Amino acid sequence: MKETSHESDVLIIGSGAAGMTLALNLSQNFKVTMLCKDKPMEGSTYYAQGGVAAVLGKYDSESSHVEDTLIAGAGLCKEEIVAFTVGQSAEVVKWLVGLGVRFDKKKSEDGSTDFHLTKEGGHSHRRVIHAADATGKEIALTLSDNLKERNNVTLLSRHVAVDLITEDTLGLTGNKCLGAYALNLETKKVEIFRAHHVVIASGGASKVYQYTSNPDTASGDGIAMGWRAGCRVGNLEFNQFHPTCLYHPDSKSFLISESLRGEGGILLLPNGKRFMPEFDKRAELAPRDVVARAIDHEMKRLGCNFVLLDVSHKGEKFIKKHFPNIFSRCLDLGIDISKEAIPIVPAAHYTCGGIVIDKNGLTDIPNLYAVGESSFSGLHGANRMASNSLLECMVFATAAANHIASRPKSRAPNIRIPSWDESQVVGSNENVTISHNWKELRTLMWDYVGIVRTNKRLHRARRRIKLLRQEVEDHYARYQITGDLLELRNLACVADLMVRCALRRRESRGLHFTLDYPDLSEQAMDTILTPPSFH
Ligand code: FAD
Ligand code: SIN
Repeated sequence: MKETSHESDVLIIGSGAAGMTLALNLSQNFKVTMLCKDKPMEGSTYYAQGGVAAVLGKYDSESSHVEDTLIAGAGLCKEEIVAFTVGQSAEVVKWLVGLGVRFDKKKSEDGSTDFHLTKEGGHSHRRVIHAADATGKEIALTLSDNLKERNNVTLLSRHVAVDLITEDTLGLTGNKCLGAYALNLETKKVEIFRAHHVVIASGGASKVYQYTSNPDTASGDGIAMGWRAGCRVGNLEFNQFHPTCLYHPDSKSFLISESLRGEGGILLLPNGKRFMPEFDKRAELAPRDVVARAIDHEMKRLGCNFVLLDVSHKGEKFIKKHFPNIFSRCLDLGIDISKEAIPIVPAAHYTCGGIVIDKNGLTDIPNLYAVGESSFSGLHGANRMASNSLLECMVFATAAANHIASRPKSRAPNIRIPSWDESQVVGSNENVTISHNWKELRTLMWDYVGIVRTNKRLHRARRRIKLLRQEVEDHYARYQITGDLLELRNLACVADLMVRCALRRRESRGLHFTLDYPDLSEQAMDTILTPPSFH
């Protein structure tokens, strides 16, 4: 059978804020192919609640946003990157508004209307612009509507990128990226996507943990693909745990936005006692690592399965206006948040590290970019400040689009790319290994590589992940690939990278807290891993 092969100027892997922003910032002279592995809107972007951090308020300033980001990042942010990102924030908001994004507004004292800005942990000003508590949905749908007007962009859903194709992976001299193989989930065939520029915009890897706020797409595929192709990765020990995800047997991954605390929500023990002021003078609005650790500490101390978040004192009218989505989701589950507190637990939320990129989103591999949550730009340091990630997606995707546009426009080199070889594999009747290993991996990451770590637990995790990876590779070599197998292979790869980064960090900093090295080192250093195939 003839293979299916596609050719474009730019191949974008991922249709979230990062991928769509990049596509929209390229001129229509570029032929663009965008892949997503599920439905186009299924990704973290759509579920983002709180908003986008931007310097818009009268009393706010770029220097204050920069300073707050640096403090949250615990000494590891790249100051130049922080200043660059913050400096673009007002422009990004203007661009979004121009495309039609409807952010919430409020009446000012002088009668004029202005954007309503909310507050979140670590921010010393109100600077989070939002669309009620469903900002991601408003942004994602608007970007997607705008993309539908672009004839130069082809979006293919249910196409799972499998691996990047580079000169090196083909055994040639050089290491330019030439495209990617992707599994079409409808035909179950692997297709070739040849492109002059390839962009990884495939989101984070929080699904490596048993409990996560993220949708199923967040399986670290892009990070694993980048690593296998020869990109350095960094700071993967810093996976952020969001302090407040809903604890309810019928709810999978539902986040209770930090802006609830920004608007006055308080954290309580099951007996109704407030506890955050004992841990940090910023109380409920301390950076996320501090709040998540305090909750974890109290849950372990008391042996309870959850703590409470109470916003009921703000009254029904206020709550329904500012948090309509959270109000109705909780009500569906029998919790009236205007009358009672919400049971919450921390859950894996955001991958601060990723593929090492420069200011233009360029990776170590020529013609290969990474933007959004799969990348490591240096913005977040050891702990991302709330609502800085959508901003990062849009700032770096715009920079990458500009960089691509500045390069000479030539077609991908005319190198023969071999078809996907299925001659040695058969259909699997052993899928139980995949589902079992999947559960085992995510449970061990939760138990051994969670909010509080020790050397012993990390080594234990490392040994188990090694075994799981061997089994996955064995399965991969024998059987036809499926979406589940690809995800497991990538999750296991990223879990291994996370543990390796964590073992290298002999201190407690930001999101990485270990009982074996409870203090901060004098020197702040990134953890950079270099793959064997690095050029
Ligand atoms: P995503 O939006 O996750 O998109 C990833 C895309 O890649 C998807 O289209 C997916 O299908 C595709 N993909 C993945 N693997 C493959 C593959 N192998 N082949 C093909 N396609 C693939 N940040 C903020 O700044 N403010 C907030 O208020 C906020 N709230 C959040 C609330 C929740 C519940 C969550 C989960 C996150 C929140 N975040 C927030 C974080 C923020 O939403 C994400 O960091 C950001 O949206 C990531 O965008 P992205 O484009 O990098 O990836
Ligand atoms: C939230 O609304 O709490 C999420 C904000 C973020 O992750 O930046």
